[in-house]
Amino acid sequence: MPRLSERVAFMQESAIRKLDYTVAEQKDVRFHRLNIGQPDVPTPQPLLDAIANWQPKVIAYGPASGLPACREAGAKYHSRWSEGLEAKHVAVTQGGSEALLFAFTALCDPGDEILVPEPYYTNYNGFATVAGATIKPIRTHIANGFRLPSNDELDGFVTAKTRALVFANPGNPTGAVYSRGEVSRILDWAAKNDIFVIADEVYRRIWFTEAPVSALEFPEHRDRVIVIDSMSKTYSACGLRIGFFISRNVNLMEKVERLGQARLGPQPLAQAVAIAALGLEESYYDEVREVYKGRVMALVEALAELEGVSTHRPEGAFYCILDLPIDDADRFARWLVTDFRSDGESVVVAPGGGFYANPESGKTQIRLAAVESEHEIRRATAMLAEALQTYPGRVG
Ligand SMILES: Cc1ncc(COP(=O)(O)O)c(C=O)c1O
Repeated sequence: MPRLSERVAFMQESAIRKLDYTVAEQKDVRFHRLNIGQPDVPTPQPLLDAIANWQPKVIAYGPASGLPACREAGAKYHSRWSEGLEAKHVAVTQGGSEALLFAFTALCDPGDEILVPEPYYTNYNGFATVAGATIKPIRTHIANGFRLPSNDELDGFVTAKTRALVFANPGNPTGAVYSRGEVSRILDWAAKNDIFVIADEVYRRIWFTEAPVSALEFPEHRDRVIVIDSMSKTYSACGLRIGFFISRNVNLMEKVERLGQARLGPQPLAQAVAIAALGLEESYYDEVREVYKGRVMALVEALAELEGVSTHRPEGAFYCILDLPIDDADRFARWLVTDFRSDGESVVVAPGGGFYANPESGKTQIRLAAVESEHEIRRATAMLAEALQTYPGRVG
């Protein structure tokens, strides 16, 4: 057989999606799919109306960095908290995923390194592989709410190949929200080391105690900050595939335009929907936040009842990462899908290994996404408790 590239050989299977086919093969079972961040919250009506009202004569290509109206809407929306943003600072992308891929590609030559507090969003590994970059994890821990280490410790991770630090705020899977002081410290530290900061803010609107600050709120770091945003979670529009790459660094934005030209342009229909979304009133975001707060708190309370399980209290996003008394989370997750049934139901979970650079670090952990109603989440957590009693690989 002709040879495949080394890149695809090293491409990891997504921890979130790797059980998809096994799940599809199961008969007569109702799964609670808490493995993937696909909420069941209805997409707001104005977005659906924008689809119905989109009646072009020709479904044409659009500009590489997005339709001017969509870029302007993105800049105006972010100007609600960050000053001086214009359309030229915003490129529309095919999901936050493509914005991340563009960021890694624009900053890294093969072998360059990107620092990431771990556990981290598993697909950063995939984007790094495609861009030829190496992820260098900075370990954080459940016990102290996944706080970042001191600047002195951070210095120990920097080499001549370090190009950027990427962090999600709020975090996935950690739910950690970095305070204004922490974001400011990260930016000052990055400036001292002359590296970029990629702030992945796709969960920015979902928080429970303190609103996350945007890295764009620090215009003094204009040339080193890239913010990633997305329609997926905020508007329950994961299938829309619209995200944003935002930076005040105009030289970088010119290069991003070229990356965009190579794939022509993001979908015009989806951008019409995004424009409608970005015009929603602040009250919409308040409502969404309450929905997720209820779900995540229901999850945290239900998990607190589980014996031998350690977890944390998310400050934002809608995930919980748990450490379980089990031999191997991959095995446990598969067993839940293929063997465990409770009144014809079961739970799909994401094994923790994929959220770490070294999968061994998350071997006994799983991630749950609060993507169902509070009632369903309580039911799924009760099933998890039942499963832990009968799982053959239980430890202790
Ligand atoms: C932290 C984080 N960043 C980026 C993404 C990508 O989102 P999308 O490509 O749907 O915008 C996700 C999706 O789950 C995520 O959790």
